[in-house]
Amino acid sequence: MQEDRKKALQGALAETENLINMFERTVRRNWDLEIPRTDFSQTAQKILANLEPAQETKEEIKEENPAPAGHGDIRLSLDLAGLKKDCASCNRCRLAQTRNNTVFGDGCEVRPDVLVVGEGPGETEDKTGLPFVGRAGELLTKMLAAISLNRESNCYITNTVKCRPPENRDPLVDEKQICGLYVRQQIALIRPKAILCLGKGASCMLTGEEDSSMGQLRGRFFFYDNSIPLICTYHPAAVLRNPDLKRPVWEDLKKLARFLNLGIAGERK
Ligand code: URA
Repeated sequence: MQEDRKKALQGALAETENLINMFERTVRRNWDLEIPRTDFSQTAQKILANLEPAQETKEEIKEENPAPAGHGDIRLSLDLAGLKKDCASCNRCRLAQTRNNTVFGDGCEVRPDVLVVGEGPGETEDKTGLPFVGRAGELLTKMLAAISLNRESNCYITNTVKCRPPENRDPLVDEKQICGLYVRQQIALIRPKAILCLGKGASCMLTGEEDSSMGQLRGRFFFYDNSIPLICTYHPAAVLRNPDLKRPVWEDLKKLARFLNLGIAGERK
């Protein structure tokens, strides 16, 4: 099946799951009925897995996520604490030379509702070793709280690159490719129920839609690795620069919350 048709089908399956969740919520709320939750994501995965021969899928994934040249032999730990150590001693790209701390990730490490992926650590994150603790981080914490997410119990936060790019420049292609190996291993170990990508860097990296703009990517459901629902929105730093982005970000977050059946500030559950 052609890649664009497959992506459209993945989007349609995610939207269907969203509608089922909304319907069930409405029944629970308006008719006061306790009905069981439908786990449609497993059905969607089965449908997608049966679409085409495994060989073809593997080749497509390889093309979308090429291993960085000369780095195909990296052995990554199979547990999160080990992976964090691998990362702390990593010097596979130039960012290692200017960092003070690696910023691996923070939050609920076992099957959180959402794994948030930002772009890269800033100055405060580089000083503390924790993601999203500066100004953009404060806004992110508020945004997540509005849909019942927090790092203490149901959310994990990380970035596409684990070391601060000098002067907060955008991470370069090879830096994202190398660090992408850590991000993918993190996702595999943490097994989030959904992924929220903040900004173009994370959105392009994890959807594989390298040439799309944020306007095209935001607010749509994708499947990461054909299995984990993923939604993109604008980066909180962009919202701080341009308050007009608050509204679309709020729409995207509500979409994610409805999908996961999370409480939304100002709405009755
Ligand atoms: N911006 C990011 O993308 N990540 C951080 O951790 C902080 C700011």
